Amino acid sequence: MQKEPIFLSQKELDEQIWAMAAFQAVEDRPRSFHIVTYGCQMNAHDSEKLSGMLVRMGMAETEDRRHADLVIFNTCCVRENAERRALGNVIWLKQLKNEKPNLLIAVCGCMIQQPHMAERILKQYPFIDLAFGTHNLYRLASLLLELADKKHRVISVSPEENMIAEGLPVKRLNDYKAYVTVMYGCDNFCTYCIVPFVRGRERSRRMEDILREAEKLQKSGVQEIMLLGQNVNSYGGGKDFPKLLKALDGIGIPRIRFMTSHPKDLSDELIGVMASGKNICNNLHLPVQSGSNAVLKAMNRGYTREQYMERVQALRSVVPDIGITSDFIVGFPGETEEQFMDSVSLVDAVGYDAAFTFIYSPRVGTAAAKLKAQVPAEVSAERIRRLIQAVEQSTARVHQSLIGSTEQVLVEGVSKRSRTMVSGKGRRNITVTFAGDTRDTGKLIQVKINAAAANTLRGERVTTE
Ligand code: SAH
Ligand code: SF4
Ligand code: F3S
Repeated sequence: MQKEPIFLSQKELDEQIWAMAAFQAVEDRPRSFHIVTYGCQMNAHDSEKLSGMLVRMGMAETEDRRHADLVIFNTCCVRENAERRALGNVIWLKQLKNEKPNLLIAVCGCMIQQPHMAERILKQYPFIDLAFGTHNLYRLASLLLELADKKHRVISVSPEENMIAEGLPVKRLNDYKAYVTVMYGCDNFCTYCIVPFVRGRERSRRMEDILREAEKLQKSGVQEIMLLGQNVNSYGGGKDFPKLLKALDGIGIPRIRFMTSHPKDLSDELIGVMASGKNICNNLHLPVQSGSNAVLKAMNRGYTREQYMERVQALRSVVPDIGITSDFIVGFPGETEEQFMDSVSLVDAVGYDAAFTFIYSPRVGTAAAKLKAQVPAEVSAERIRRLIQAVEQSTARVHQSLIGSTEQVLVEGVSKRSRTMVSGKGRRNITVTFAGDTRDTGKLIQVKINAAAANTLRGERVTTE
């Protein structure tokens, strides 16, 4: 059961809006900012909210962090290397601060929300001016005002877990595609995962707020929305997501995506909406994590390999051209060679378009971190190589099968490799490149696929539509 969320009161929102205005009267205030974002789409969207607030406070975003008066690190802690990268880069900023004493350094996001982190920042990173957790993001304006007032560092990590803040300004990265959060947090407590601890309990936005946001995006010409949630299909306690998706489909935005979907909540009703929807893209990220029932049980995933396969088949029977992608973890504590091979065979059985593969990383506070039988690093490294190979073969088969088809591509810009080519994603979420120029950016173009490479498809624009 999802708890009822507490919505940010009008009074608190007004306080923040007031702080954004008041900040502009501060002498020696920062004039420019740069945000470095780690982690998932949730964090990317949070950074868009941070940008929105900072712009309202009279600051301009700068591409080069060396020119910024304020640098914010929006961190991730889902695996140890994500954390290590963020902290390594913060140290680099320490040198910059020596040259530029007025530089403000802030860190926020999931890493900071961990219980032991605030203390560590206080002790080990004295050059960090401001640190705030995921539940305090909406308070950025008052935190910066406090920092300017007191002239000492501000650390703000609260355990408030059930808050939804509507009405904050957002500065979106793109004007043709947009993130729309539908729910926050996670209640699943997969035994390896830190996310429920740093993002709080599941809570869903009001349907009318989501629809209003989507309508505004449609009017502004947005071509694609990506609905966000740790488990989007747990929206409204698991029963309301099909209804929401259907309503969004009716708004008329040409492309709708959503992630992440939990296999246990992929209902027949949702599959039905995906099949009948006009604008819902034929792609589903459905992370399986492992192909072994024993490992899935130890991970607390709530489904078996057979149940997962049954859901994939149910979906394919009504959406035959659906592209399915996944996440896998190798080297979960106690994983045997045979259990690992079950993941390899599942890649073939499903025929994934693509999959992210991760080596298990123990996270403080999670149930799996306490398990004894940790898999040696070299065994995991060798397993992940084999799994990646299986995924690459699966991707190649899918890409080959698409030669000759026509894909609708949302162009994201000129290709990195060649100035005369543009690239973007097809509805199936595979990158497609074809001849074009910057004028194509943000447009939907039909492309006939005529070649397949490892990670992309190549094609030609279809001129007669
Ligand atoms: N809510 C999503 C994804 C959350 S994190 C879901 O349930 O699928 C993204 C991915 O990171 C997960 O799918 C998982 O594959 C991986 N991951 C999470 N915790 C991890 C850990 N401790 N070690 C390695 N990979 C992990
Ligand atoms: Fe983590 Fe599991 Fe929640 Fe995904 S469903 S965020 S993997 S606890
Ligand atoms: Fe990382 Fe937080 Fe996302 S831990 S994966 S940024 S929810």
